[in-house]
Amino acid sequence: MDAGAPVIAVDGPSGTGKGTVCRRLAQALGWHFLDSGVLYRAVGLAAQRAGVPLNAEQPVAALAANIDLRFVPDPHAEYGMTVLLDGEDISAAIRTEEAGGAASQVAAFPAVRAALLKRQRAFRRRPGLIADGRDMGTVVFPDAALKLFLTASPEERARRRHNQLKEKGIDVSLRALLEDIRARDERDRGRAISPLVPAADARLIDTTAMDVEAVVNEAMRHVREQGLA
Ligand code: DC
Repeated sequence: MDAGAPVIAVDGPSGTGKGTVCRRLAQALGWHFLDSGVLYRAVGLAAQRAGVPLNAEQPVAALAANIDLRFVPDPHAEYGMTVLLDGEDISAAIRTEEAGGAASQVAAFPAVRAALLKRQRAFRRRPGLIADGRDMGTVVFPDAALKLFLTASPEERARRRHNQLKEKGIDVSLRALLEDIRARDERDRGRAISPLVPAADARLIDTTAMDVEAVVNEAMRHVREQGLA
């Protein structure tokens, strides 16, 4: 942890191109990258594997505090890194719809979020950190040098997810995805702690009618405007 290292916080729901934009920013600037959703996904998976019910706040939080999680950079991996839980590669297992649902459930618990706070802040190192999540700008790095908040209509986000899954040969109905996105949005926005809302000083980017390239360009414009590149 290096409290002097600058942070760019990128928040918003899934399906906004956030992950891709963050990786591209990290690459362009040569900064470190924190995909905070991975932590919640890993905790959800670890709980399921340990037979800990996802609605049991304290046992899940205890697990979150002690979880042996490692990130190994790998340019060939789909998300640019391999994630190890107790030494086992869980990179694929944490990306399923089910793992996303479990993550959203455990992420609603204050004790779980508190247990993961220090671990997230430890990613802050020079020359800088791109932090991808829901509460990077509001809770984890409130002093971020730049805060971006990406949005897109639920319909467009469902369509993007549908295309992603289709490319992987997974056939899920668009309507089911849309319903799932709406339910998860509601849970993420409505939770009492760290709800998915933009920080007061965040810059909003509505990506509904933009392709990834356009979003990256717009994000880079803000980065330069802020004197970070
Ligand atoms: O970004 P993602 O899809 O990997 O996130 C999975 C879940 O984790 C999502 O439903 C919300 C939760 N999450 C969170 O509450 N706070 C974060 N900083 C990142 C993710």
